Amino acid sequence: MTEIAVLGYGTVGSGVVKVIETNHDSILAKAGVDLHVKYVLDLRDFPGDPIQERIVHDYDTIVNDPEIAVVVEVMGGTEPAFTFSKRALAAGKSICTSNKELVARHGTELQELARQNHASYLFEASCGGGIPIIRPLRTSLTADVIDEITGILNGTTNYILSKMIDEGLEFDDVLKDAQQKGYAERNPEADVEGHDACRKIAILSSLAYGKRVDFTDIYTEGITRITSADIRYARAMKKTIKLLAYSGRKGDQVTAMVAPYLVDREDPLYGVSGVFNAIFVHGNMLGDAMFYGQGAGREATASAVAADVVEAARALGTGVVSEWDPEKQVLTDVSSTRKAFFVRVQGDASQIAKMEAVFGPVSLVEAGVDGEYGFTTRVMTEAEYQACASQTEGILGMIRIREKGEAC
Ligand code: HSE
Repeated sequence: MTEIAVLGYGTVGSGVVKVIETNHDSILAKAGVDLHVKYVLDLRDFPGDPIQERIVHDYDTIVNDPEIAVVVEVMGGTEPAFTFSKRALAAGKSICTSNKELVARHGTELQELARQNHASYLFEASCGGGIPIIRPLRTSLTADVIDEITGILNGTTNYILSKMIDEGLEFDDVLKDAQQKGYAERNPEADVEGHDACRKIAILSSLAYGKRVDFTDIYTEGITRITSADIRYARAMKKTIKLLAYSGRKGDQVTAMVAPYLVDREDPLYGVSGVFNAIFVHGNMLGDAMFYGQGAGREATASAVAADVVEAARALGTGVVSEWDPEKQVLTDVSSTRKAFFVRVQGDASQIAKMEAVFGPVSLVEAGVDGEYGFTTRVMTEAEYQACASQTEGILGMIRIREKGEAC
């Protein structure tokens, strides 16, 4: 029997207990591991819940118990999760986590600690909820040179944007709904300002390109500036708006960015709605591949954590860790990346010639919004766009237009 401790009995933690207990027999039959949750660490008590008899409040009970082989860290945040993870790994216990903040900040050193102690450090659920993406990048795609990852990596913002677009709802109302459904982070700023997607693309890029990508180096914009007017223009262009987390490699140059993009109907990411996530990967031999599934929510995320528990249980005594170089990957400045831009300006469409004089050829977008008009630019670098925008008065907003294979 493999004894497990779960740190945190919140949305994901309770889901992990449910998956391991509901699917115990099928896991045993398929993977040959007999999983048992011995402890759940939480500050709270859960009277009436069958878990109550296994609730502990003192982490020492877990870390000092030699029977515990795998620790599921689903507390979120950096501390005390970081300290608890280090203590477990130092004691030779494996860690399975959904904590993208911790993996993005300290994953490199936690993997090294796991390696030294012949333990596993696994984090499938840190990116894309229930979608298998870490394991494919770590194993199936190792023969490929990956040159692009573009993901819808945050279920909350995708849910909000989908509802705003499909049902004409306002941002604040949909956010509350997402929080109630258990998709959003405790601090919704992490979702809506793009920080959550930023951490996830940093983790995926570190795996794909083989060097540590520091999430604090990634240019990040969230969705808080997207308005109902933007949505009207998007509809007029037969496009939709998605928060995309992008990274690309050309030779030894890597660039990464998180921002809302206009996405065309022909694009495979167009139809990814609601809480679903998708990760588009391009490899030099593989070509295009897309991974799709539920990106947030209790059972989906717990299913990915439980799969890591199975892998860790099968690798007791040897351990499994991802391989990326602790040396930092220097990112190319996003100002040299090329794409077209959609711009909204105060005034009326008769002034489009003035825009053409600054931006070069543009295409007018008519959406019938009072007191303003919109246009799309030619493909240009971010730096060129900024130079043109700085010469233009009355800009109300800009959204990038997704270009597959956006160049470094
Ligand atoms: N808040 C995250 C999201 C949860 O909405 O995607 C899953 O990481």
